[in-house]
Amino acid sequence: MAQRVPAAAATTTGGGGGGSSTTISLTGSGTNYSKMEGPIDPSFKTKRQPVGTFQGIKVWGPVDPPGQLGIWGTEVCVDFDICIADGACIEACPVNVYEWLETPGHPASEKKPFMIREKDCIFCMACENVCPPQCVKIFQKG
Ligand code: F3S
Repeated sequence: MAQRVPAAAATTTGGGGGGSSTTISLTGSGTNYSKMEGPIDPSFKTKRQPVGTFQGIKVWGPVDPPGQLGIWGTEVCVDFDICIADGACIEACPVNVYEWLETPGHPASEKKPFMIREKDCIFCMACENVCPPQCVKIFQKG
């Protein structure tokens, strides 16, 4: 079930620090709709800032819900603005890292593969390899 928090919770002060304690909202009045083509930028971590978390999972901005959701994850990363909810990643994962997350109002798809069990990833790369728009990027620890 989608977590409901005030839309204002998605905004940050932009000065860095404390961003990871912000709870990201999936709802809001964001009109910055940004349907994007894949693949995910493999170097996004050097170009984007973490703007908060959703159920403990890191979210990288810019985020302007519901139209722009950014990239989610630390090791198992999915660009939610590219994802079309094909579902191949969810079917492919042998350890059930993902579950569907409803994202009503997003222009690319109204549900996304939420990496809620990211810590269980065994880095088999199956999800990254089967994603049609190539919106998944796996970062192996160490
Ligand atoms: Fe599953 Fe992808 Fe990791 S398929 S095990 S989340 S590399």
